[in-house]
Amino acid sequence: MSMPDKEAEHWGEVARGWSDKGYANELLGEQKRKTYIDLITRWTRITAGQKILKTDLFAEAFGVEQFFFDIVPAKSDVVGIDVSIEIVAEARSQALKRGMDAGQYLCGDVKQLPLRDNSIDLIISDSTLDHFPTEAEIITALEELGRVLKNGGTLILTIDNKSNLTYPPYCITRLWMKLGLAPYFIGRTLSLSRLRRALKEIGLTIEENTAILHYPHPDGLVRWLERSLRYSSRGKLDNAIRKGLACLNRLEGSKIKYLTGRYIAVKAVKGGAT
Ligand SMILES: C[S@@+](CC[C@H](N)C(=O)[O-])C[C@H]1O[C@@H](n2cnc3c(N)ncnc32)[C@H](O)[C@@H]1O
Repeated sequence: MSMPDKEAEHWGEVARGWSDKGYANELLGEQKRKTYIDLITRWTRITAGQKILKTDLFAEAFGVEQFFFDIVPAKSDVVGIDVSIEIVAEARSQALKRGMDAGQYLCGDVKQLPLRDNSIDLIISDSTLDHFPTEAEIITALEELGRVLKNGGTLILTIDNKSNLTYPPYCITRLWMKLGLAPYFIGRTLSLSRLRRALKEIGLTIEENTAILHYPHPDGLVRWLERSLRYSSRGKLDNAIRKGLACLNRLEGSKIKYLTGRYIAVKAVKGGAT
């Protein structure tokens, strides 16, 4: 079985079990959605004529963390891809429910995009590239994103932040996955400096960078805590949890943001000033 087939099979399996396993965390999802909307609207202005690529469709398929349909105009020329046909089908049906019928929702591999060179104005890649077993695959995917992006086009990318104080050595992550404690495959990631170098080599310049969503990696404990508190208080603590999460988010404005952020986030421009 080839690598994309294996990936597709894995993510299809994750998708089939996702709703039943109760992984949805409404309040963390709400915070993630707000954080992404804030980040993207701060870093770029989305206009009707742009061709926009989204590099995975997990959140669009499963709801609570979904932000993409909220920030692109309904008739936008969007291309959403995902390696899993199940995820693409569910995301497409959610898109149609929202009148996003001008978009294309395709099954494909971000490391081998079914798109022409220099054809995309804006790419949004939220934690897609940190699900590969090797750094080389992350670089291949970055090269693909660089290839399809127009000159002057913008890439907004987030990946797991390995400077987070709780980011474990990869052998621990591997063990964690072997024991069945991770809901899906967690891959390698790049440091901010390595990412900057890789982007520079393919002609993209980082214009903005930050760290977002300030809680530990992996986030299983936080997810469990949110669900337990909500369940035991029958929702009475929801507002307190919201306030707590908003408080943690303020760490983005602090000097230690790269020690606490779950993801690094960059805005890079193709052919931008070096
Ligand atoms: C855990 S989800 C990430 C979800 C979301 N973007 C987030 O911020 O958490 C990973 C997603 O990437 C997709 N994916 C994994 N490998 C891919 C590849 N090679 N090409 C395109 N999509 C891929 C999976 O099918 C899945 O939808």
